[in-house]
Amino acid sequence: MAKNPQDPDDDRQEQGTASEQTVSGRLSRRSFLSHLGAAGLATTASPLLASAAAAPAVQQEAQAEAMEGMIPVTLKVNGKQHQLRVDSRTTLLDCLRENLDLPGTKKGCDHGQCGACTVHVNGRRVNSCLSFAVMHPGDEITTIEGIGQPGHLHPVQAAFVEHDAYQCGYCTSGQIMSAVAVLKEPVGPADEDIKQAMYGNICRCGAYPNIIAAVQSARKRA
Ligand code: FES
Ligand code: FES
Repeated sequence: MAKNPQDPDDDRQEQGTASEQTVSGRLSRRSFLSHLGAAGLATTASPLLASAAAAPAVQQEAQAEAMEGMIPVTLKVNGKQHQLRVDSRTTLLDCLRENLDLPGTKKGCDHGQCGACTVHVNGRRVNSCLSFAVMHPGDEITTIEGIGQPGHLHPVQAAFVEHDAYQCGYCTSGQIMSAVAVLKEPVGPADEDIKQAMYGNICRCGAYPNIIAAVQSARKRA
């Protein structure tokens, strides 16, 4: 059939036929590209297959290296000794919650601004988000789980229940831990004194009047 000069398809077909025939005189363009693709795939796939096979070894090596960076520490929490290996950057808060499965201590801000993470270290209240676990070998650490349990509530816990001193409860363990410490600190008798002593414990629900009433009640009983 004669070539139609007005039909662009005729040109493309012609060019396609020519290119398939003339690369290196013997290899068509299409088969040249097929070979190239197969070779490229083999070149790319070989390292991938090799790295897949090496992955477990690499992971084991990474784990071993990670473990090498871990620091052994013995923590005494709620009267019980725990031998641990922790990253030097692990906060006491994360260690209590993640390593020792003591979730009663809450993470609010993680920046020392809310008091939800309050625990006692050697009887003094501490924001556990601001302290590293490895700083406390030999210290007596007490969490909310250590001061009372259902059926055996600490007087401050009982006062919080009695005075309805919480709404969502997220700040409550920190409030109670602070209040227990306040009972042993030289804090004046007025409500304002308690407010001052517990200013680092924030309650987003605004249960402050009930919290103060609970602390005053527990103080009177103590
Ligand atoms: Fe520690 Fe807020 S979580 S002070
Ligand atoms: Fe909700 Fe205090 S009871 S934050």
